[in-house]
Amino acid sequence: MTRFYITRAIDYANGKPHMGHALESVQGDALARYNKTLGKDVRYLTGMDEHGSKNQETAEKAGMSPQELVDQNAEFFKEMYRLYNVEADDFIRTTSERHKVGARALWRRLEDAGMIYEKEYEGLYCTGCESFKADKDLVDGLCPDHQRAPQPLKESNLFFKLSSFNDAIKEKVKSGELQILPESRRNEFLGLLEKGLHDVSFSRPKSSLEWGIEVPEHEDHVMYVWCDALSNYVTALGYGSDDTSLMERYWPADVHLIGKDILRFHCGIWMGMLLAADLPLPKAIYIHGWITSEGQKMSKSLGNVLDPVDMVQRFGTDPLRYYLLREVPTGSDGDFSMERFQVIYGGELQNTLGNLLRRVVAMTIKYFEGKMPAPNGDFDELIEQSWAAYHKGFTSFDMKASIEAALYLAREANAYIEENKPWALAKEGSDRLEGVMGSLLQVCQELGKLLEPIIPASAERWQAHFKEGQVEMGEPMFGELEF
Ligand code: MSP
Repeated sequence: MTRFYITRAIDYANGKPHMGHALESVQGDALARYNKTLGKDVRYLTGMDEHGSKNQETAEKAGMSPQELVDQNAEFFKEMYRLYNVEADDFIRTTSERHKVGARALWRRLEDAGMIYEKEYEGLYCTGCESFKADKDLVDGLCPDHQRAPQPLKESNLFFKLSSFNDAIKEKVKSGELQILPESRRNEFLGLLEKGLHDVSFSRPKSSLEWGIEVPEHEDHVMYVWCDALSNYVTALGYGSDDTSLMERYWPADVHLIGKDILRFHCGIWMGMLLAADLPLPKAIYIHGWITSEGQKMSKSLGNVLDPVDMVQRFGTDPLRYYLLREVPTGSDGDFSMERFQVIYGGELQNTLGNLLRRVVAMTIKYFEGKMPAPNGDFDELIEQSWAAYHKGFTSFDMKASIEAALYLAREANAYIEENKPWALAKEGSDRLEGVMGSLLQVCQELGKLLEPIIPASAERWQAHFKEGQVEMGEPMFGELEF
């Protein structure tokens, strides 16, 4: 059986989930569900990034232990997954024993390969990014992503020889063995490789950071949080344990799904770590853009921060899933605006899709007592084309295009109703009525399948309208919302 292992970034556990986390989780879930519909053996991994300065400092400020803080926040993330109907197969936490065992085993492997060395290091560290910054990365002395001045650090650290893998990584990207989507991000990364990857400080002395995994044979050091976190993709499969079955079954991953800010950690550092450990590289890295709110970056001072839990409680799971997948193009940034949400909900879900189903079901009950007549073939070609466009969207990390393929089919079916006027055919007693209604029913059934990975619970209710050649009138699919 074909396997499909998809991971998303593990979230920092220093706060509650935000809309960006919900977006990525839903994208991953739709990709996982889509691959399940193809009959693949799918595994979708999510989890929490629980070590490092960011978590330690937040816990200190909150007067909690880091473990208490991350335990508490992990629960908020689990609740977010439940509310968004995100079905992950595993949830890895980097403070778990299984992760620590695996991360230490991977470290040993890097050290045995001669890829770790010790060096005195002096630099500027941004806790927001959890990384050292060069002067050229700063704008007016501040980290542009976090608007904070990075702190000077002078430490003796263990370094990973990432620079040795620059050419090998370039070759994998250029040959297509490692696919980076979208193309613009692939080019961005190739540009970084042209400048050359530098060796990375891979540990922190415990005297400056305690909250991390102890480095094997260097107990006065903890692992750099990115080295710790990136290894989750294999530790969740039992890397370093006695049970190798999941590694054999699912590695290499098919897709690492991440946001644009962490491209170089994944495409650079993680690929270097895998090459150093002699593990195969994932097949693809999918990089999504940012979600903004009402046209602007979300910020507390602008008061436009979208709380994913509040939102889902107000508007429901599927309307939001649909909006996120439909409106936030995977290749670039996308915006959440209340006005646009209303347009999409009313125009597409309620009208184009919901009303189509309701009209077709009502007419089938009226003219055929609910018994489904056979299609006349009018839609065969369009259905085939819609599926082709839909598959292309899902396999090229463009779910927006997949949804548009389904919508196009629905719009054509609505136009077909207006052109063929089944009510007039019924009045005339025309023998075309059966074929016309049969085709409309055929389209509706296909739409139910097309919508499955996008809005799974609604798609199930949609499909429940059709049973053994009969239709049944259910509750309206997409009810009124208060905006
Ligand atoms: N812990 C690291 C990832 C380690 S992976 C081995 C991290 N965590 S995060 O909580 O800051 O971000 C988690 C994911 O959410 C990342 O892929 C990030 O790009 C994504 N997003 C964070 N803010 C976002 C938006 N505003 N919009 C969309 N995605 C965003 O990075």
